Amino acid sequence: MERKGKTLTMSVFARRKRQGKKIVVLTAYDLTSALIASAGGVDAILVGDSVGMVVLGYENTLPVTVDEMVHHCRAVCRAKPQVPVIADMPYGSFHVNTAETVRHGLRLVKEAGASAVKVEGGSQRTAAIRALLDAEIPVMGHLGLTPQSLNRLGGYRVQGRGKEAAAALLDEAVLLEEAGCFAIVLECIPSAVAQKISARLTIPTIGIGAGPGCDGQVLVIHDMLGLFTGLKPKFVKRYAELGASAVAAVERYTAEVRDGSFPGAEHEYGEERTGQRDGTGANVSGQSGYLGSDKADAD
Ligand code: KIV
Repeated sequence: MERKGKTLTMSVFARRKRQGKKIVVLTAYDLTSALIASAGGVDAILVGDSVGMVVLGYENTLPVTVDEMVHHCRAVCRAKPQVPVIADMPYGSFHVNTAETVRHGLRLVKEAGASAVKVEGGSQRTAAIRALLDAEIPVMGHLGLTPQSLNRLGGYRVQGRGKEAAAALLDEAVLLEEAGCFAIVLECIPSAVAQKISARLTIPTIGIGAGPGCDGQVLVIHDMLGLFTGLKPKFVKRYAELGASAVAAVERYTAEVRDGSFPGAEHEYGEERTGQRDGTGANVSGQSGYLGSDKADAD
């Protein structure tokens, strides 16, 4: 899986907004998903705290720790995806004081290799955002339905409905821009509100459930590939049904092991070296022939 095209840096966000071109963001949580996202041509990867739900099996994103984010972000960065990698600051990592916030942000950059972090919330987060920026860490904001506010919101609900709520959301977006965010995720808000915010800001908005008027879009990779079927919010479009194909593949494997048709002759090693390398099993570090032939096996 190879990426076609140029390596992108953080400047892609401002450039695309200036040019009126849409920004494509997708989540990834490990080497394989990062390679897929990069080869698919996205502009940036978000290592979202949604990792807690779609990979780690938590009920919501609240239990996700900084250690878990570092672990997953490192795996994503090992893919060398050639696009900016943005790491979510998990719940609790930026709520205590600015010193702790910066320490956690620095871990995501220094240990995990992120180019930027994402922080959920509006006016109550501007001190945290400024502190991160003082430490040279670019910050993406996140407004609307902020899943880390689940307990306060009382559920996953559309935000910014009604004149007052919409105006408040616009004010919060302006505050985040003034605080120095390079972009803002707008989650689950009416399309008209997102469009108004996007038109007002000079930084790009990245929508998820916020309609086509945003400057870009983000989806959770497990949702759009049909790998995570536990929840299906209205805003998710499934571009594949990989979960169903994976189950069908495992069923075939199960049946073939049981009836003895797997492994076949082509999967066996003989007692003699054949010396032929078929290049199968090339891994990301560029080593080919990983047990792909008798010779590789014997080496
Ligand atoms: O955690 C995540 O994946 C996110 C996106 C859905 C924006 O915050």
